[in-house]
Amino acid sequence: MPGSAIPTSPNGDKAYPRNLTIFVTFTCVVAAMGGLIFGYDIGISGGVSSMDPFLKKFFPSIHRKQMHDELTNQYCKFNSQVLTMFSSALYLAASVSSLVASTVTRKLGRKYSMLVGGVLVCVGAIINGFAQDVWMLIIGRILLGFGIGFANQSVPLYLSEMAPYKYRGSLNTGFQLSITIGILAANVFNYYNNIDGNMGWRLSLGGATVPALAVTVGSMILPETPNSMIERGKFEEARAKLHRIRGVDDIDEEFNDLTYASEESRKHERQWRNLWQKKYIPHLTMAILIPFFQQLTGINVIILYAPVLFKTIGFSGNASLMSAVILGTINVLATCVSIYGVDKWGRRFLFLEGGAQMFICQVAVAIFIGIKFGVNGNPDDLPKWYAIIVVFFICIHVVGFAWSWGPLGWLVPSEIFPLEIRSAAQSINVSFNMFFTFLIAQSFLTMLCHLKFGIFLFFALWVVVMTMFVYMFLPETKNIPIEEMAIVWKNHWFWSRFVVNVDYLNGAEISTGVDIIMNHAS
Ligand code: BGC
Repeated sequence: MPGSAIPTSPNGDKAYPRNLTIFVTFTCVVAAMGGLIFGYDIGISGGVSSMDPFLKKFFPSIHRKQMHDELTNQYCKFNSQVLTMFSSALYLAASVSSLVASTVTRKLGRKYSMLVGGVLVCVGAIINGFAQDVWMLIIGRILLGFGIGFANQSVPLYLSEMAPYKYRGSLNTGFQLSITIGILAANVFNYYNNIDGNMGWRLSLGGATVPALAVTVGSMILPETPNSMIERGKFEEARAKLHRIRGVDDIDEEFNDLTYASEESRKHERQWRNLWQKKYIPHLTMAILIPFFQQLTGINVIILYAPVLFKTIGFSGNASLMSAVILGTINVLATCVSIYGVDKWGRRFLFLEGGAQMFICQVAVAIFIGIKFGVNGNPDDLPKWYAIIVVFFICIHVVGFAWSWGPLGWLVPSEIFPLEIRSAAQSINVSFNMFFTFLIAQSFLTMLCHLKFGIFLFFALWVVVMTMFVYMFLPETKNIPIEEMAIVWKNHWFWSRFVVNVDYLNGAEISTGVDIIMNHAS
């Protein structure tokens, strides 16, 4: 009986158990390791592509240009489509595979997608570590990408479904935390592997097998989410699991709501076709715009190319790898602030604050680089203190991202989709995220060459647009149970026009508040 589906307060505060059991914490920590493989692969390519032995072996012409060419504009020294392809092939592959992952995640369960992800990354990392030719590098990166598409599609869903709703933000942010830890580990590894000979970069690239193995083994021991069991008709198992996860006897209300949401979603078997209905316009808009905006913060210009960027502003090879390590550490620490605050201060506050902070930093970086480098990009001298100021603002920009768009770019989409479209919509979100990451990764060095310091102003403008978008259009989702999320759209000044007549939990098209109550009561 779906009567329990009526939220007891305007913000949907229901009486589901809120305990954070050791069991659920453990499973979420293991699952969040899925972020490690993604982070490691993001962090490793920038450093490796600034290592001399690597460039000499695979990209000798870039190496020569970098070493001997005094004439080329400093902004353009690293501009090579093949070199960027090495970084970005991964994201294109992930963009495709996350769409396939939707079916596996729905039909076989969340943990099977994680397993596939772990195995594919292992194979890709081994091929990369033993690469003899550019094509081996690219094939390896493509396999990594396929694996990451699977992991990124399933892990955020897994976390959001396992977590008691009061802690969903924090537990889900564990995914972003492990992305940042992966990036940092890669930065540190690159720093120590920046040695003569080929062993250094081989170790760096092959090192991705470690987090991949962790995810592979982790996914074998993890329990499936109750939501996914119910989705696949395993009701009794799901009830027992919910009982264990929540650590209390009284799970009836949550179980009934999950079952009910699942029955409703079963009526709409074809997730991909449903997605295009009018009532899902708000969800679809967020599934596309959130990853789009996340990438237009310009974060990956910094994360993927920090060592190259720092070399561009005159740091030596080792100093630039060290700066990447410092950035990586800051990224991890600031993500912890988000874990602490996301369920307390809410998503919107973090988005708005982070946006303002990133905007100020990008404008400052543009001004500082612009003053010294001008448009020809060859400063007569660049005092150390000056470079340090630039790095300082870049760090504060990363901090702003790390507690806003970083974690929230994964959290918010994973919690707003109703079950009947969840897996497909999450795939769209991941696929777009990967696709936009690909575009940025592929075009950044060319953009830097043409826009010069103006590239930071370009991203600053986008930050203004996205911050206004959040202010106007993103409802607060803090403290709302995941299967009750319909309420936020119904209450929203703009989105209500699409969903006001739809009672998701009861699946009926209805027109008035009285109808809603009658419908629930019947
Ligand atoms: C983004 C990545 C980014 C990372 C940086 C993630 O949320 O999706 O593209 O590199 O954060 O920490």
